[in-house]
Amino acid sequence: MSAEVLRRVVGAASASPSVHNVQPARWRIDGDTLVLLEDTSRRLAVGDPQGNDAAISLGAAAEGAAIAASGEGLATRVERIDGEDGDFRKVARLTFAPGAAPDPLLPVLEMRASWRGSFLAPTAQDRTAAAALAGADCTIITDPAAIAAVAAAYDAASYAIMRAPGFRAELTHWMRLKRSHPDWARDGLNAAAMQLSGVEALAAGAVLGPLFRPLAAVGLAPALLAEAKGFGKAVGVALFHRPAVEDPFDSGRAFHRLWLAIDAAGFGANVLAAVADHHETASALCRDNGVPVGHRLISAFRIGRRGGQPFPRARLPLGEVLVS
Ligand SMILES: Cc1cc2nc3c(=O)[nH]c(=O)nc-3n(C[C@H](O)[C@H](O)[C@H](O)COP(=O)(O)O)c2cc1C
Repeated sequence: MSAEVLRRVVGAASASPSVHNVQPARWRIDGDTLVLLEDTSRRLAVGDPQGNDAAISLGAAAEGAAIAASGEGLATRVERIDGEDGDFRKVARLTFAPGAAPDPLLPVLEMRASWRGSFLAPTAQDRTAAAALAGADCTIITDPAAIAAVAAAYDAASYAIMRAPGFRAELTHWMRLKRSHPDWARDGLNAAAMQLSGVEALAAGAVLGPLFRPLAAVGLAPALLAEAKGFGKAVGVALFHRPAVEDPFDSGRAFHRLWLAIDAAGFGANVLAAVADHHETASALCRDNGVPVGHRLISAFRIGRRGGQPFPRARLPLGEVLVS
């Protein structure tokens, strides 16, 4: 197998989602195999102290590579490995065998993107398509009152997490609020991806930064950070849950597949990690929505028909992701 094929696989896998778009995945071509490494300097020390989100992101990258490889006619075996590797941590080795059919999710691999903008009003057909996404690890909520309840739970959980100054500092470190930011097109969350106008981006930076304390003191911070309006016209909320004992890397592989399936159904999705990260909220949502006992809420998505245009994705160049 040529190195060129593996370079294409890594290039396509770079479209995979990662927490705060930190892109922890690094790849090395090793003979006919790909070694997946984690750049641990990209860990979120405050937001992800256990490396759970990093593991989900790495699993998503591995699944992205496997889907991309299917487009080259290759079936992928993903084997976990560990140990240090210079500045990196070894995560997995991907080996390939000929004879695979293209994965049905391949057409959306490089088109999927977070959609944090508004949605178009859902049609009956949209509701049917959303309901069809339900499965053993995905519970779909389409009842408007139940969606509103998730919106309120999300805002409360998100605010509880945002109250920690360290979390806000880490988040704003990864936000690129102006196009002049040197990393605007490389990584993190830029204003275009967050669907913020120039003025809104400035306001977001101030509310999460110096104005947070005074606004919180007068009780205004929760309202300013609330996203409840983003749930308006959402066709549904997807609760993504996996066996509680599962390695988060494997959960990340399934997470990426579900997200691609959402996009393949014609929807845009925004991750609502706060409802899974805030334990009381996660327990309540699981209980109220019949998530099977023994499953853990990994994440959730707000989904709907996109009400706007796509934007260029911010990604590190292939030359930085592929290491020698
Ligand atoms: C583990 C994990 C947690 C995430 N949490 C959130 C979140 O809480 N809010 C959000 O808007 N996006 C979240 N995302 C989405 C990422 O921000 C997004 O994938 C990244 O910015 C890359 O952009 P893209 O999805 O458009 O490719 C999460 C992604 C992963 C893998």
